[in-house]
Amino acid sequence: MKIIRTVAELREEVGTWRREGRTVGVVPTMGALHEGHLSLVRRALAETDRVIVTLFVNPKQFNDASDLDAYPRTEESDAQKLKPLGAHVLYAPSAAEMYPSGFQTKVSVSGVSEGLCGAGRTGHFDGVATVVSKLFLQAGADRAFFGEKDFQQLHVVRRMARDLDIPIEVVGCPTVRDADGLALSSRNERLSAGDRSNASAIAAALREAAESLAAGADITETLEAATVRLKSIPEARFEYLELRHEDDLSPVNALARPARLLAAVWLGDVRLIDNVPVAVP
Ligand code: PAF
Repeated sequence: MKIIRTVAELREEVGTWRREGRTVGVVPTMGALHEGHLSLVRRALAETDRVIVTLFVNPKQFNDASDLDAYPRTEESDAQKLKPLGAHVLYAPSAAEMYPSGFQTKVSVSGVSEGLCGAGRTGHFDGVATVVSKLFLQAGADRAFFGEKDFQQLHVVRRMARDLDIPIEVVGCPTVRDADGLALSSRNERLSAGDRSNASAIAAALREAAESLAAGADITETLEAATVRLKSIPEARFEYLELRHEDDLSPVNALARPARLLAAVWLGDVRLIDNVPVAVP
Protein backbone atom coordinates (compact mmCIF):
# COMPACT_ATOMS: atom_id res chain seq x y z
CA MET A 1 0.00 0.00 0.00
CA LYS A 2 1.40 3.36 -1.09
CA ILE A 3 1.03 6.37 1.17
CA ILE A 4 0.42 9.47 -0.95
CA ARG A 5 0.30 13.04 0.37
CA THR A 6 -0.06 15.26 -2.68
CA VAL A 7 -2.72 15.77 -5.34
CA ALA A 8 -0.08 15.57 -8.11
CA GLU A 9 1.20 12.19 -6.92
CA LEU A 10 -2.34 10.84 -6.55
CA ARG A 11 -3.26 11.92 -10.08
CA GLU A 12 -0.10 10.29 -11.45
CA GLU A 13 -0.92 6.99 -9.72
CA VAL A 14 -4.55 7.01 -10.87
CA GLY A 15 -3.39 7.96 -14.40
CA THR A 16 -1.22 4.81 -14.50
CA TRP A 17 -4.17 2.66 -13.37
CA ARG A 18 -6.38 4.23 -16.03
CA ARG A 19 -3.84 3.49 -18.79
CA GLU A 20 -3.93 -0.14 -17.58
CA GLY A 21 -7.73 -0.10 -17.92
CA ARG A 22 -8.41 -0.45 -14.16
CA THR A 23 -11.53 0.75 -12.38
CA VAL A 24 -10.98 2.88 -9.27
CA GLY A 25 -12.85 3.06 -5.95
CA VAL A 26 -12.45 5.65 -3.21
CA VAL A 27 -13.34 5.38 0.49
CA PRO A 28 -13.27 8.83 2.12
CA THR A 29 -12.49 8.75 5.86
CA MET A 30 -11.18 10.93 8.65
CA GLY A 31 -9.16 8.01 10.03
CA ALA A 32 -9.52 6.32 13.45
CA LEU A 33 -10.61 3.37 11.34
CA HIS A 34 -12.96 0.78 12.76
CA GLU A 35 -14.76 -2.26 11.37
CA GLY A 36 -17.36 0.02 9.73
CA HIS A 37 -14.66 1.70 7.60
CA LEU A 38 -13.00 -1.64 6.89
CA SER A 39 -16.32 -3.01 5.59
CA LEU A 40 -16.39 -0.10 3.10
CA VAL A 41 -12.84 -0.90 1.99
CA ARG A 42 -13.74 -4.59 1.51
CA ARG A 43 -16.77 -3.59 -0.55
CA ALA A 44 -14.64 -1.21 -2.64
CA LEU A 45 -12.07 -3.97 -3.22
CA ALA A 46 -14.84 -6.35 -4.29
CA GLU A 47 -16.31 -3.85 -6.77
CA THR A 48 -13.30 -1.98 -8.19
CA ASP A 49 -9.78 -2.95 -9.31
CA ARG A 50 -7.86 -0.29 -7.37
CA VAL A 51 -8.87 1.27 -4.05
CA ILE A 52 -7.86 4.61 -2.54
CA VAL A 53 -8.65 5.19 1.14
CA THR A 54 -8.49 8.88 1.99
CA LEU A 55 -7.55 10.04 5.49
CA PHE A 56 -8.08 13.71 6.18
CA VAL A 57 -9.48 15.24 9.36
CA ASN A 58 -11.32 18.06 7.62
CA PRO A 59 -11.27 21.23 9.74
CA LYS A 60 -14.03 22.82 7.63
CA GLN A 61 -16.68 20.37 8.79
CA PHE A 62 -16.17 20.92 12.54
CA ASN A 63 -18.35 23.67 13.98
CA ASP A 64 -16.71 23.20 17.37
CA ALA A 65 -12.94 23.68 17.77
CA SER A 66 -12.77 21.39 20.81
CA ASP A 67 -14.42 18.58 18.80
CA LEU A 68 -11.76 19.03 16.08
CA ASP A 69 -8.97 18.95 18.69
CA ALA A 70 -10.42 15.84 20.34
CA TYR A 71 -10.84 13.96 17.05
CA PRO A 72 -8.53 10.90 17.18
CA ARG A 73 -5.52 10.98 14.83
CA THR A 74 -4.14 7.47 14.39
CA GLU A 75 -2.55 7.30 10.94
CA GLU A 76 -0.02 4.58 11.78
CA SER A 77 -2.53 2.14 13.21
CA ASP A 78 -4.98 3.03 10.39
CA ALA A 79 -2.31 2.06 7.84
CA GLN A 80 -1.69 -1.21 9.72
CA LYS A 81 -5.41 -2.04 9.50
CA LEU A 82 -5.59 -1.27 5.77
CA LYS A 83 -2.50 -3.14 4.57
CA PRO A 84 -3.76 -6.70 5.16
CA LEU A 85 -7.02 -5.90 3.36
CA GLY A 86 -5.13 -5.01 0.18
CA ALA A 87 -6.05 -1.32 -0.20
CA HIS A 88 -3.76 0.14 -2.86
CA VAL A 89 -3.32 3.74 -1.71
CA LEU A 90 -3.72 5.61 1.57
CA TYR A 91 -4.13 9.24 0.53
CA ALA A 92 -3.37 11.44 3.56
CA PRO A 93 -2.87 15.03 2.44
CA SER A 94 -1.93 17.83 4.84
CA ALA A 95 -4.36 20.68 5.54
CA ALA A 96 -2.08 22.95 3.46
CA GLU A 97 -2.29 20.54 0.50
CA MET A 98 -6.09 20.36 0.73
CA TYR A 99 -6.65 24.05 1.41
CA PRO A 100 -3.61 25.95 0.09
CA SER A 101 -3.20 29.54 1.13
CA GLY A 102 -5.74 31.70 -0.73
CA PHE A 103 -8.39 28.94 -0.82
CA GLN A 104 -11.79 30.67 -1.05
CA THR A 105 -14.35 28.19 -2.38
CA LYS A 106 -17.26 26.62 -0.54
CA VAL A 107 -19.57 23.91 -1.87
CA SER A 108 -23.00 24.25 -0.28
CA VAL A 109 -25.90 21.86 -0.86
CA SER A 110 -29.31 23.15 0.20
CA GLY A 111 -32.44 21.02 0.79
CA VAL A 112 -31.05 17.71 2.03
CA SER A 113 -28.49 19.55 4.23
CA GLU A 114 -31.22 21.31 6.16
CA GLY A 115 -32.69 20.05 9.45
CA LEU A 116 -31.53 16.88 11.27
CA CYS A 117 -27.74 17.22 11.80
CA GLY A 118 -27.70 20.37 9.64
CA ALA A 119 -29.79 22.19 12.24
CA GLY A 120 -27.43 21.53 15.15
CA ARG A 121 -24.11 21.76 13.28
CA THR A 122 -23.98 25.05 11.37
CA GLY A 123 -21.69 24.82 8.34
CA HIS A 124 -20.97 21.13 8.86
CA PHE A 125 -22.42 19.92 5.55
CA ASP A 126 -20.79 22.78 3.61
CA GLY A 127 -17.48 21.51 4.99
CA VAL A 128 -18.34 17.93 4.05
CA ALA A 129 -19.53 18.87 0.52
CA THR A 130 -16.44 21.03 -0.04
CA VAL A 131 -13.92 18.39 0.98
CA VAL A 132 -15.74 15.46 -0.66
CA SER A 133 -16.06 17.31 -3.98
CA LYS A 134 -12.31 17.98 -3.84
CA LEU A 135 -11.57 14.34 -2.96
CA PHE A 136 -13.77 13.14 -5.84
CA LEU A 137 -12.00 15.46 -8.31
CA GLN A 138 -8.55 14.60 -6.95
CA ALA A 139 -9.12 10.83 -7.03
CA GLY A 140 -11.08 10.67 -10.29
CA ALA A 141 -12.62 7.40 -9.08
CA ASP A 142 -15.53 5.49 -10.64
CA ARG A 143 -17.20 4.71 -7.32
CA ALA A 144 -17.18 6.13 -3.81
CA PHE A 145 -18.24 4.13 -0.76
CA PHE A 146 -19.98 5.72 2.25
CA GLY A 147 -21.61 4.26 5.36
CA GLU A 148 -25.36 4.62 5.85
CA LYS A 149 -24.77 5.53 9.50
CA ASP A 150 -24.22 9.10 8.26
CA PHE A 151 -27.43 8.91 6.26
CA GLN A 152 -27.89 12.65 5.73
CA GLN A 153 -24.23 12.95 4.67
CA LEU A 154 -24.84 10.23 2.08
CA HIS A 155 -27.72 12.29 0.63
CA VAL A 156 -25.65 15.49 0.64
CA VAL A 157 -22.75 13.80 -1.15
CA ARG A 158 -25.03 12.16 -3.75
CA ARG A 159 -26.78 15.46 -4.45
CA MET A 160 -23.47 17.33 -4.70
CA ALA A 161 -21.98 14.81 -7.17
CA ARG A 162 -25.13 14.89 -9.32
CA ASP A 163 -25.47 18.67 -9.26
CA LEU A 164 -21.79 19.24 -10.12
CA ASP A 165 -21.77 16.51 -12.82
CA ILE A 166 -18.93 14.65 -11.12
CA PRO A 167 -18.89 11.28 -12.89
CA ILE A 168 -18.83 9.03 -9.85
CA GLU A 169 -21.29 6.50 -8.44
CA VAL A 170 -21.94 7.06 -4.72
CA VAL A 171 -22.54 3.69 -3.06
CA GLY A 172 -24.27 3.57 0.36
CA CYS A 173 -23.23 0.62 2.57
CA PRO A 174 -25.02 -0.82 5.64
CA THR A 175 -24.13 0.39 9.14
CA VAL A 176 -21.86 -1.97 11.08
CA ARG A 177 -22.85 -2.45 14.73
CA ASP A 178 -21.29 -3.80 17.91
CA ALA A 179 -22.85 -6.94 19.39
CA ASP A 180 -25.18 -4.80 21.57
CA GLY A 181 -26.42 -2.83 18.55
CA LEU A 182 -24.40 0.41 18.96
CA ALA A 183 -23.47 1.75 15.52
CA LEU A 184 -19.68 1.79 15.12
CA SER A 185 -18.22 5.30 15.12
CA SER A 186 -14.79 6.80 15.68
CA ARG A 187 -16.44 8.84 18.43
CA ASN A 188 -17.41 5.74 20.45
CA GLU A 189 -13.85 5.52 21.78
CA ARG A 190 -14.42 8.79 23.62
CA LEU A 191 -17.41 7.44 25.61
CA SER A 192 -16.85 6.83 29.32
CA ALA A 193 -17.44 3.22 30.44
CA GLY A 194 -20.83 4.19 31.90
CA ASP A 195 -21.94 6.09 28.78
CA ARG A 196 -20.75 3.23 26.57
CA SER A 197 -22.96 0.75 28.40
CA ASN A 198 -25.95 3.15 28.11
CA ALA A 199 -25.30 3.91 24.43
CA SER A 200 -26.82 0.69 23.13
CA ALA A 201 -30.24 2.00 24.26
CA ILE A 202 -30.21 4.41 21.28
CA ALA A 203 -30.16 1.64 18.69
CA ALA A 204 -32.69 -0.41 20.69
CA ALA A 205 -35.15 2.52 20.87
CA LEU A 206 -34.82 3.15 17.12
CA ARG A 207 -35.15 -0.50 16.17
CA GLU A 208 -38.24 -1.07 18.29
CA ALA A 209 -39.92 2.13 17.08
CA ALA A 210 -39.18 1.14 13.46
CA GLU A 211 -40.74 -2.27 14.07
CA SER A 212 -43.89 -0.67 15.54
CA LEU A 213 -44.18 1.76 12.61
CA ALA A 214 -43.75 -1.05 10.10
CA ALA A 215 -46.53 -2.91 11.93
CA GLY A 216 -48.84 0.08 11.39
CA ALA A 217 -48.52 1.96 14.71
CA ASP A 218 -49.46 5.66 14.82
CA ILE A 219 -46.47 7.81 13.75
CA THR A 220 -46.89 10.64 16.30
CA GLU A 221 -47.45 8.30 19.24
CA THR A 222 -44.54 6.06 18.29
CA LEU A 223 -42.14 8.98 17.88
CA GLU A 224 -43.28 10.46 21.20
CA ALA A 225 -42.74 7.14 23.02
CA ALA A 226 -39.29 6.69 21.41
CA THR A 227 -38.36 10.29 22.32
CA VAL A 228 -39.28 9.65 25.97
CA ARG A 229 -37.14 6.53 25.85
CA LEU A 230 -34.13 8.36 24.38
CA LYS A 231 -34.49 11.19 26.91
CA SER A 232 -34.53 8.69 29.75
CA ILE A 233 -31.08 7.25 28.90
CA PRO A 234 -28.94 8.17 31.94
CA GLU A 235 -26.74 11.26 31.27
CA ALA A 236 -28.20 11.63 27.75
CA ARG A 237 -28.90 14.97 26.07
CA PHE A 238 -31.52 14.44 23.36
CA GLU A 239 -30.98 16.37 20.09
CA TYR A 240 -33.52 14.99 17.59
CA LEU A 241 -35.59 12.01 16.52
CA GLU A 242 -37.24 12.27 13.11
CA LEU A 243 -38.93 10.13 10.50
CA ARG A 244 -37.89 11.05 6.95
CA HIS A 245 -38.39 9.48 3.53
CA GLU A 246 -35.46 7.31 2.55
CA ASP A 247 -35.16 8.63 -1.02
CA ASP A 248 -35.17 12.42 -0.44
CA LEU A 249 -35.20 12.99 3.34
CA SER A 250 -38.54 14.80 3.18
CA PRO A 251 -40.64 14.56 6.39
CA VAL A 252 -43.10 11.65 6.63
CA ASN A 253 -46.74 12.22 7.55
CA ALA A 254 -48.04 8.88 6.32
CA LEU A 255 -45.88 5.84 5.64
CA ALA A 256 -46.54 5.27 1.95
CA ARG A 257 -42.91 4.72 0.88
CA PRO A 258 -39.75 3.50 2.65
CA ALA A 259 -38.50 5.78 5.41
CA ARG A 260 -35.68 6.17 7.91
CA LEU A 261 -35.90 6.93 11.59
CA LEU A 262 -32.93 9.14 12.47
CA ALA A 263 -31.67 10.33 15.85
CA ALA A 264 -28.88 12.31 17.48
CA VAL A 265 -28.19 12.00 21.20
CA TRP A 266 -25.30 13.33 23.29
CA LEU A 267 -23.70 11.18 25.98
CA GLY A 268 -21.28 13.35 27.94
CA ASP A 269 -19.44 15.43 25.32
CA VAL A 270 -19.89 12.78 22.62
CA ARG A 271 -22.55 13.27 19.98
CA LEU A 272 -23.90 9.97 18.65
CA ILE A 273 -26.09 9.59 15.57
CA ASP A 274 -27.89 6.55 14.27
CA ASN A 275 -30.71 5.61 11.90
CA VAL A 276 -32.72 2.55 10.94
CA PRO A 277 -34.86 1.73 7.91
CA VAL A 278 -38.64 1.75 8.33
CA ALA A 279 -40.65 -0.45 6.00
CA VAL A 280 -44.08 0.49 4.64
CA PRO A 281 -46.74 -1.27 6.76
O1 PAF B 1 -17.75 10.62 7.22
C1 PAF B 1 -16.61 11.11 7.33
O2 PAF B 1 -15.69 10.51 7.87
C2 PAF B 1 -16.36 12.49 6.76
O3 PAF B 1 -17.47 13.31 6.91
C3 PAF B 1 -15.87 12.47 5.30
C4 PAF B 1 -16.94 11.92 4.37
C5 PAF B 1 -14.61 11.64 5.18
C6 PAF B 1 -15.56 13.90 4.82
O4 PAF B 1 -14.55 14.47 5.60
